[in-house]
Amino acid sequence: MPFPVSPLLSKEAIAERVKELGAQLRADYEGKNFLIVCVLKGSFVFAADLARAIDLPLRIDFLGTRSYGDGTESSGVVQITQDLSRPIEDVHVLLVEDIVDSGLTIAHLIKLLRTRSPASLKVCSLLHKPSRAKIEVPIDYLGFTIEDRFVVGYGLDHAELYRNLPFIGVLTP
Ligand code: IMP
Ligand code: MG
Repeated sequence: MPFPVSPLLSKEAIAERVKELGAQLRADYEGKNFLIVCVLKGSFVFAADLARAIDLPLRIDFLGTRSYGDGTESSGVVQITQDLSRPIEDVHVLLVEDIVDSGLTIAHLIKLLRTRSPASLKVCSLLHKPSRAKIEVPIDYLGFTIEDRFVVGYGLDHAELYRNLPFIGVLTP
């Protein structure tokens, strides 16, 4: 690895929290036409684990976004790099994010998906950095609140690297 990474959340701690979120989602979405929207790329690992922790019939779709260049500051511009493959009218949609930082990405996605008349639209994020919020966004299901540090691993990248680390750590150049 180009920089050392100091551990913040172990794979065991993440797995335990994912299991709890899965149980909560199972209770809340039982009997509903349920779609998990994995917000690419960062949430691919979390969404894969979360989906397997929810003991219900559900569908999965993917939405590609990009808000960072190769730095550690959001550009503030949210690009859609890949749209959903199917309509979401009358579907109970859960947006699954890796991290809510400024909130700009999730706010943009909520606005975009609302125009498509889903039955409901909620947000599940593994991480939240409240100190960096630029816009208030509802997080209906949250894994962990963290300090204002740039984190990598478990899907989260820096310049596209570190996504395959099995734990979450802080980049220490
Ligand atoms: P926001 O639009 O500022 O809320 O940022 C959302 C996106 O920025 C997330 O989905 C991540 O892909 C990325 N991001 C924000 N903070 C971090 C971080 O600490 N590490 C890696 N990616 C981050
Ligand atoms: Mg990212």
